[in-house]
Amino acid sequence: MTTTTRPASLGILERFRTLYELPVDYPIVSLNEGNTPLIPAPKLAEWAAPGLDLNLFVKFEGANPTGSFKDRGMTFAVSQAVKDGKTHIVCASTGNTSASAAAYGARAGLQTIIVLPKGKVALGKLSQAIMYGAHIIEIEGNFDEALDIVREFAALPQVAIVNSINPYRIRGQQSGAFEICQQLGSYLGVPQPPDYHFIPVGNAGNITAYWAGYQRFMEAGHISTLPKMCGYEAEGAAAIVQGKKFDHPETLATAIRIGNPASWEAAEAARDESGGWIDSVNDDEIVAGWKAAAELEGVFAEPACGASVGGLKKAAAQGKVEANSTVVCILTGQGLKDPDNAVAYGKAKKATLPADFKTICTHLNL
Ligand SMILES: Cc1ncc(COP(=O)(O)O)c(C=O)c1O
Repeated sequence: MTTTTRPASLGILERFRTLYELPVDYPIVSLNEGNTPLIPAPKLAEWAAPGLDLNLFVKFEGANPTGSFKDRGMTFAVSQAVKDGKTHIVCASTGNTSASAAAYGARAGLQTIIVLPKGKVALGKLSQAIMYGAHIIEIEGNFDEALDIVREFAALPQVAIVNSINPYRIRGQQSGAFEICQQLGSYLGVPQPPDYHFIPVGNAGNITAYWAGYQRFMEAGHISTLPKMCGYEAEGAAAIVQGKKFDHPETLATAIRIGNPASWEAAEAARDESGGWIDSVNDDEIVAGWKAAAELEGVFAEPACGASVGGLKKAAAQGKVEANSTVVCILTGQGLKDPDNAVAYGKAKKATLPADFKTICTHLNL
């Protein structure tokens, strides 16, 4: 069946074509990414910052086509790979980049090669890369070693590297900031950024991209203020916070288990220029934030997202967040990506009972 009508929600390159200054013949490879919900989260606000009366929203990036924010950058990186006549794309990944690269690679008809730390990728993400038909290379090493190998593919002219060291990835991910300003406009009257932007930090590409995006939106005259960028690494992988590489990064939030962030300096610039901060949260704080979003607001994200919510709770307790502020927490990926941790850490109200209505009611105190 063919259709002549255009979908209501185009991908980010179409929607922000003017801001991205794209030529009319630019070959867009899209899965209609972006346009993810910005969800008011009043109960989560009270949990994270009791008494501060925050106007809290969560930006649910799990609603992207492959279930994470990576799709915003991948549409641009893969479109550019097609424009440049590449036949292959390659990336290192803690899971989400590989899922996204494999999907957009399939869509574009390119061969996708992904290099993963063996045994360290959440099941949902691995299943995506398998299903999209990527070449999957598992190495006995961590993400940082996988990225070192991927950098060597730069010597092959037919291959495009689609990690966030590819500038098109960062440019595409700026669209998250454009959307937040527009969406806050529909809640608050005029397009505006939040006062504070909380975000998990792994390889540090996303905090870099959001900061660039807010600045770009201001340059274009759509907003007149900028948010404080508040990034949170996992304590066991807190290279930026501690000012040293972690050779053996550890955290249950596998997406941010990164010991040598590629965008380290750019993230520090985002922190300093915005007047924000980069801090760390431990796995207990991550799990608490992750579960609170699900149990209090019905938003099931993946564990790494607990870094932004847990980070907000920590910052509020430290007195770093002003009362009555507008705050956005980025929930970078979808909960179904990591079912093993959900089953392990969720508050399972699960019982096995006889097939008998009365017994079930008794169990439920009904
Ligand atoms: C779900 C999720 N959250 C956060 C991050 C960290 O983003 P960045 O590496 O851009 O700092 C990643 C990176 O893989 C991720 O997959």
